[in-house]
Amino acid sequence: MKTLPSPPPAPRPREALTRHRPAGQLRIPCVSGKTTPPHAQSSPGETPSWVIYCGDARAVLDQMEDASVDCMVTSPPYFWQRDYEAGEQEIGREASIAGFVGAITDVMADVRRVLKPTGTAWLNLGDSYYNAKGRPHGSDPKHQARMLARRELRAVDGPGLGLPRKSLIGIPWRVALALQEEGWTLRSDIIWHRKTAMPEATSKDRPWRKHEHVFLLVKSVVYHFDRDALNGEEDVWDIPPERWSATRGDHFAPYPSELVRRCLVAGCPMGGVVLDPFAGGGTTLAVARDLGLNAIGIDLSEAFCEVMTKRIRRAALRRVEPATEPVAEDAA
Ligand SMILES: C[S@@+](CC[C@H](N)C(=O)[O-])C[C@H]1O[C@@H](n2cnc3c(N)ncnc32)[C@H](O)[C@@H]1O
Repeated sequence: MKTLPSPPPAPRPREALTRHRPAGQLRIPCVSGKTTPPHAQSSPGETPSWVIYCGDARAVLDQMEDASVDCMVTSPPYFWQRDYEAGEQEIGREASIAGFVGAITDVMADVRRVLKPTGTAWLNLGDSYYNAKGRPHGSDPKHQARMLARRELRAVDGPGLGLPRKSLIGIPWRVALALQEEGWTLRSDIIWHRKTAMPEATSKDRPWRKHEHVFLLVKSVVYHFDRDALNGEEDVWDIPPERWSATRGDHFAPYPSELVRRCLVAGCPMGGVVLDPFAGGGTTLAVARDLGLNAIGIDLSEAFCEVMTKRIRRAALRRVEPATEPVAEDAA
């Protein structure tokens, strides 16, 4: 990225790295903060390190060392909800449900490899509706990321998704079941209750969506887990949505810091290494930093990588505002 300082060496430069990818598509690492390499655990009191890689999650993960991460927390793009303007490799705009589920499971296969045997993975997923109206649906002129998606016929608007019209697709569980097939152990389906979520303008004949899923996935029978982090809420977490007050607002679809904090306190050992393969505005990295954990963030969007870098550098995350959740215009 032009405006960023020259990148430090990659954490584990595998020789095959650039051979796999056309030149110019992958600039890694994007930028990092000191002190220890991000794949090394830090000692208590040591400044945590962070690194941001700007590229396709599959390509960047492909270059990371096996068993080098203690905890993954992420929220991938939802199926046809937003346009992150990140290019052809952007996930969330696949022609079919199976294509989307396959893209997430591909990323998670690499995550499984880089996760330590004692590691935990916390995967936040939301659902989508199949409108099948045969034309772009809804309008949201105040929200560029969602407005752009209305200009083209999305897979959830067109014919051929293989479901009756107005169906809730069931994306989270389709992904969870596919991950089980791939060998992941599914330990919990946490319901993130977005208590203060705003009404969905298009849903006149069904309840509004006020929850999302956070799946806890592991690769071994013994793994790091601190129950105290749950604060007695167990698998239903009452956490209001947040909106980052900095520029570009909710373009990232950020999840709340408290949600990430809970996952990290429960699932990451002190001084451990945290990974977010869809880092967006950098919520995971910022919370990890606040908790004294080392963090690795990946995002395809150069613009987001820049914003995230500035955010981590300024440690400005704490400025969050109460939610004014955008109204979902694309639900059926
Ligand atoms: C829901 S947002 C993540 C928001 C983040 N949790 C936060 O709090 O800011 C999903 C992110 O995935 C990124 N993304 C989409 N396709 C990607 C890919 N193939 N590799 C890496 N990142 C990708 C998008 O640019 C977007 O920033």
